Amino acid sequence: MQNLIKNAPELKELVTFVPNKIEPIHNWYYYKEGFSKKFVEWCIDKFGITNKHVVLDQFCGVGTTPLTCKQHGIKSIGFDCSPLCTFVSRVKTTDYDLEELEEVKNEVLSWSPEKSDVPNNNWLKIAFNKKVLEDIISYKKRLFSMKNEDTRNFMILALMNASMMSSYVEKDGAFLKVKKKHVPPLKKAFDYSVKKMFKEYSKSNIPNTEVRIDVCDARDLDLKDKSVDFIITSPPYLNKIEYTQIYRTEYALFFDQPKTRIHSAIENEEEHYFNDMRKVIEEMKRVCKGKVAVVIGGGCFPDRVVEVDRSFARLAEQVGWKVDDILVARNSWCTRSKVMKVARMRESVILLSSE
Ligand SMILES: C[S@@+](CC[C@H](N)C(=O)[O-])C[C@H]1O[C@@H](n2cnc3c(N)ncnc32)[C@H](O)[C@@H]1O
Repeated sequence: MQNLIKNAPELKELVTFVPNKIEPIHNWYYYKEGFSKKFVEWCIDKFGITNKHVVLDQFCGVGTTPLTCKQHGIKSIGFDCSPLCTFVSRVKTTDYDLEELEEVKNEVLSWSPEKSDVPNNNWLKIAFNKKVLEDIISYKKRLFSMKNEDTRNFMILALMNASMMSSYVEKDGAFLKVKKKHVPPLKKAFDYSVKKMFKEYSKSNIPNTEVRIDVCDARDLDLKDKSVDFIITSPPYLNKIEYTQIYRTEYALFFDQPKTRIHSAIENEEEHYFNDMRKVIEEMKRVCKGKVAVVIGGGCFPDRVVEVDRSFARLAEQVGWKVDDILVARNSWCTRSKVMKVARMRESVILLSSE
């Protein structure tokens, strides 16, 4: 296995969400855990994926894989256990009726917030000033009563982004910081988000290609045997971010908590994590005919680093995959208490094929 590990500095930026910040539609929701459109395009090229194929991402996050595939006219399936992620992925991959969207845009831009009762939720009272929270609830009520599901969801995503722009909360790695600062009025942030999203969509001209997005557990895929051609994905990293924690503001306002996720913060977590990964790899083997690209990072603990790429590749071999390459995209320091260096760790792209 050692000689399969190669440096691939050309993938360094691509395995992060950073390049998506300037990509229209991909940037409709910032998701630190995501990879980039350019990474998916690299895989499309490398594997020779065409519009005759179906691509799966069973940890699709905010839909980078399905949206990129759609932009290239390739059919895709995106699953995630988080309703926030599947909601964002769906909004980004829906084919909107442009005339209807424009009508709804003009209607919502004409709204002014009305007086509303705020929910009795301590976190929301910390995250927003009273006026902003009242305005969010007022807009939310009006949006939720809209009949057309597609345009309603489009506007709810604009409201979710606007809410975050007008909040005291800042995402700082795995943590949330609350900073009492000057924030824009909700209406200003909402109007800005709606106009930006509308402009990007109306210029985008994305092919009308089939995309399925659903909440689903990657350990038990709702798919028939050998029904997909390729997989481009990135599972949660061992001992990394507690996803629901840093998105708690969005969840408190708009979603139910996910019912399931990969173990990450429980006793004996390494063993549980790799048990889960085995199930994930077995499910990949069951549903996929062709090749797989997996972005995965090392596990950082206060006293050690776990080489997850190597263990994942070994598990894949046991399940019957051929490991073609382990491409090291990035090296970073695992630190304890933010500053004390524990060891270097890798973030890699594992390439698998059916034997
Ligand atoms: C590293 S992120 C993937 C991000 C994605 N590549 C993107 O560009 O947005 C891992 C994702 O796995 C999801 N997840 C965690 N446990 C899961 C499970 N059991 N089944 C499906 N998804 C899961 C998380 O909600 C998270 O969105």
